[in-house]
Amino acid sequence: MLNEILIELNPEIGKLRLRHFYTRLGANFYNIHSLFHRLYGDRPDFKPQMVSLVETLAQRYIERAPHLCKSDLVRERDYNWFLSQKWVGMALYCDRFAGDLKGLRAKLPYLQDMGVNMVHVMPILDCPDGASDGGYAVRDFHKVDARYGTNADLEALAATMKKREMLLVLDVVVNHTSDDHVWARQARAGDKKFQDYYYVYDDRETPDAFEQGMPEIFPNTAPGNFTWDEAMGKWVMTVFNTYQWDLNYRNPAVFIEMVDIILFWANKGVDILRLDAVAFLWKKIGSTCQNEREAHLLLQLMKDCCQVTAPGVLFIAEAIVAPGEITKYFGEDAIMAKECEIAYNATLMALLWDAVATKNAKLLNLGVQHLPAKLERATWLNYVRCHDDIGLGFDDKDAGLAGYDPYSHRRFLIAYFTGRFEGSPARGLPFGENPKTGDARISGSLASLAGLESAIESGDENAIDAAIRTILLLHSVILSFGGIPLLYYGDGIGMLNSVEYLADPSRRDDTRWAHRSSFDWDKAERRHQPGTVEYRIFSGLKKMIALRKELPAFADFDNRQQVLVDNPNLLVFVRSDPVSPRNRVLVVANFNNQPQSMALEVLQPYGFFQRGPMRELCSGMTVDPEEGSLNIPALMCCWLTD
Ligand code: GLC
Ligand code: GLC
Repeated sequence: MLNEILIELNPEIGKLRLRHFYTRLGANFYNIHSLFHRLYGDRPDFKPQMVSLVETLAQRYIERAPHLCKSDLVRERDYNWFLSQKWVGMALYCDRFAGDLKGLRAKLPYLQDMGVNMVHVMPILDCPDGASDGGYAVRDFHKVDARYGTNADLEALAATMKKREMLLVLDVVVNHTSDDHVWARQARAGDKKFQDYYYVYDDRETPDAFEQGMPEIFPNTAPGNFTWDEAMGKWVMTVFNTYQWDLNYRNPAVFIEMVDIILFWANKGVDILRLDAVAFLWKKIGSTCQNEREAHLLLQLMKDCCQVTAPGVLFIAEAIVAPGEITKYFGEDAIMAKECEIAYNATLMALLWDAVATKNAKLLNLGVQHLPAKLERATWLNYVRCHDDIGLGFDDKDAGLAGYDPYSHRRFLIAYFTGRFEGSPARGLPFGENPKTGDARISGSLASLAGLESAIESGDENAIDAAIRTILLLHSVILSFGGIPLLYYGDGIGMLNSVEYLADPSRRDDTRWAHRSSFDWDKAERRHQPGTVEYRIFSGLKKMIALRKELPAFADFDNRQQVLVDNPNLLVFVRSDPVSPRNRVLVVANFNNQPQSMALEVLQPYGFFQRGPMRELCSGMTVDPEEGSLNIPALMCCWLTD
């Protein structure tokens, strides 16, 4: 079959030197063919589509620049390169952070000063004005939005970052397009070929059948999962906003287009592609249309294709789904990651927020304990905040084991973070409240959620201190847990909620904009002034980041052992260097606002404190426990070594 396809390929391709391409195609062809066959084998056009896919891979390989091909070879050899503790990420909007792509290039030193060396530049591709969902409603997948610059600016940014040994992460919005994308416009004009790129129906019969199983993602701003398009005279599936049309991956042409787009950006020098909303890729009547088996097959196929043309490029799965489902996006039944090498650790994120509200680590301990094992050569993206809302996606069973009724516990958390709960210092906002189910998610900046906004307003120094400690505590966990920490721009200087968005009619109903504000460079300047809030947060983070990079025990080789202790306020784990296991770090995090003690007995099997006192790395202090127990200050995380 492979030979037949090679004969049918465009004759121009045969003439070029494609040694590595053919080797990699040979190695991956069995998988590619089987997956493509499983998905599209019963179609009469299977064979020509298969040829078209291989042709796409070859074309993009031919145009891949020599320096990128070289870096592919280096990364193939050093295939665990991204599991190292030296990577620290940040997500930011280039316009809100630095005006545009050129501005961002100029601001790289700020990021490097902090220790950040992986930057997720939030979506920058061409979108319609207003109806853009923050860049996730793409009109042209091949073009940087003029507001941010040009494709050349992006390539210049990638080149500068490479020189500075920083990684560039960009989004590919694989699940949907803007309703103003040329495919959608052609579909609207009646072109059947492009109507088959989407889920389009004449009447409500099929949409109604779908709706029975599908939840609503934006229940208050975009209820339902289908939108009537007047010009087309048909219903179209729109799971997110009404202007985001879901792509139909039952059509192999859509898959091939998307692989082509992925490789197009890989060839612009992007190191890691964040595949947006991957849980939604396959729709099936009678299901929730999330986490379907075929969605995984599509991702495996995308990975295998990328492996042929741009093997140095990694994928991040953005699948904000149940704990048991997330790890499947690394790939199942395989040792090597066969889907995405990296996935958002939405479970840890939600658990951390639970610990903030309850001031204990009961649910956090259970959730971490039950986090499914992941494959080798796969890693988490550990984060506290991102551009989206916080979904309380912990396991109901764990909530039960922690002694909570899951439903009322979630109600409590929502009330706590939106400040509706008596005595709560949090200043979050509800997002996606669904009156039909009582569900809601939470918006707001880290600092406002952690109580800094209310503390500054009331001028309460103790409350300011507690908020700063909380911010550092949460980061301390994501920096030491195992995986790539992903900071969110603004959090390093304690940016509060913004109200800018309320003045913009296209944004004011979407509270996620409260935590997508313009970066305040004057405020950032205060990070140099000892005593200021900005200084305390920034210097604390910077120090922890620098320490992390020096500790091979913090690399992610599934080298974390959780220690279950009696005190429910503490999360305790041991990280050990995979190469020299004697190099260990004992991490002890106290989520309570009072100092807590931990009995040393539980550490006996690990031998900690048996050869004398330990050193706390962040403070540099020697810790010599008294009377068989260790004292952990309020809202504090210790990194202890012997
Ligand atoms: C992703 C993005 C989110 C967006 C959604 C639809 O989840 O993170 O911001 O609204 O996809 O594209
Ligand atoms: C839902 C989706 C997630 C998206 C978010 C945006 O949680 O699962 O992909 O980021 O909505 O609010």
